[in-house]
Amino acid sequence: MARARTTFRCTDCGGHAPQWVGRCPSCGAWSTLVEEVVDGARPTATAPLEVPVPIAEVGSDAHGVVPVGLPELDRVLGGGLVPGSVTLLGGEPGVGKSTLLLQAAAALAAGGRRVLYLTAEESPEQVRRRAERLGALRPKLLVAATGDLPGLLGQVDHARPEVLVVDSIQTVHDPDVASAPGSVAQVRQCASALVEVARDRAMATVLVGHVTKDGSLAGPRVLEHLVDTVLSFEGDRHHALRLLRAVKHRHGSTAELGVLEMGAEGLVPVDDPSGLFLADRQPGVSGSVVVATVEGHRPLLVELQALAAPSTLPAPRRSAEGVDGGRLGMVLAVLGVRAGIAVAGLDVYALAVGGARVVEPGADLGLALAVASSATGVPVAAGTVALGEIGLGGELRQVVQAEVRLREAARLGFERAVVPATTVAPVPAGLELVRVASLVEAIEALGLDLEASGPGRSGPVR
Ligand code: TYD
Ligand code: MG
Repeated sequence: MARARTTFRCTDCGGHAPQWVGRCPSCGAWSTLVEEVVDGARPTATAPLEVPVPIAEVGSDAHGVVPVGLPELDRVLGGGLVPGSVTLLGGEPGVGKSTLLLQAAAALAAGGRRVLYLTAEESPEQVRRRAERLGALRPKLLVAATGDLPGLLGQVDHARPEVLVVDSIQTVHDPDVASAPGSVAQVRQCASALVEVARDRAMATVLVGHVTKDGSLAGPRVLEHLVDTVLSFEGDRHHALRLLRAVKHRHGSTAELGVLEMGAEGLVPVDDPSGLFLADRQPGVSGSVVVATVEGHRPLLVELQALAAPSTLPAPRRSAEGVDGGRLGMVLAVLGVRAGIAVAGLDVYALAVGGARVVEPGADLGLALAVASSATGVPVAAGTVALGEIGLGGELRQVVQAEVRLREAARLGFERAVVPATTVAPVPAGLELVRVASLVEAIEALGLDLEASGPGRSGPVR
């Protein structure tokens, strides 16, 4: 009899190799190849166990949603957790994943749900100490510390929770899999086992996943395919603000944004994020522009700052913090070529204030104006917001949801919005729209051009 043909498939990218090698030839990931039997037989049709039904007659799972009781988390989840679903909460170490989930577990337990919080990173005593601080000591919240998969599944069998939290998936390991905890093979194996129990028990499951510096979930892309929902928890460790968004959501939209603040007693919802972002703003300083962005359906006003300073380096520095480095480069090039504001010999630092992250193209205009303002030393008048995407020709393009952005600006007392000429949106009371077709026009309208700023202002000042 012929030996079954085998191939080696990458658990990360799905690529394959004829023999085992340490590094996937397709994606370059290490130790991700696993042996797979290639079965040449063609699948044959069998009598279906379930016949297809008209789509309108398929049952809906919407009624089964379990609200967590944390408004920001429920908002992002579109109401709550779905029984039997698996959610992955990704974020950098220290951002507050364990805190958020312990608070969520406590809120669920307070609502009468049986919750099991399994930690493979901390001792039960450490979790308790944190829970005390968070006011999360609830009779229905069970805690266990275990790192091996069989032990963990045993805990689930014993506790029969409605909601399971596993903190974190990278520290769980299956002794039957030879590779080290945290390796792709381990994480994939453990996650699939958990997905299976979650389905069998109709138990909503939340897995914590650490992300690496570049923002991807450590190791396995496969995790994102295995689970129903991927949430990303972001924030700068040096700032209190945290943003929660859904990257993938089989049970709802990915458009919602949760805004929370890390305090001494855990995470609290932020009702007025724009107000918070703008709280420490100092008007009258050059290089500062407020942009009206939108995250999901939520408008956010954020201050962008730029500093252009003479450089002593052969290749001047470009630093982008909370703004997209690629877009900053593009904006600088357009400023130089189309608007005559050369920054070639200047170090340029650009940042979004307060740990915010503004990467949408709608912030281009604000970013360009902040750089122009710093390079010319002319401050942008307080009470001004900017929105618009910049094209390579220096032309401005309108942004989505302009109405929501303008309303938020008016609510916060802004008087003037610099917008692309093509913008169609009702103008809120108290807000004047300055319609401009190009970056040059915007710079002129704000008096940031060199001629308007008078003699002696031709170099970078302030
Ligand atoms: P943690 O939830 O452990 O982060 P992660 O699980 O994502 O690694 O918390 C991270 C930080 O939050 C930690 O450095 C301490 C801080 N923190 C507070 O400021 N207030 C609190 O109430 C708690 C519980 C933590
Ligand atoms: Mg943690």
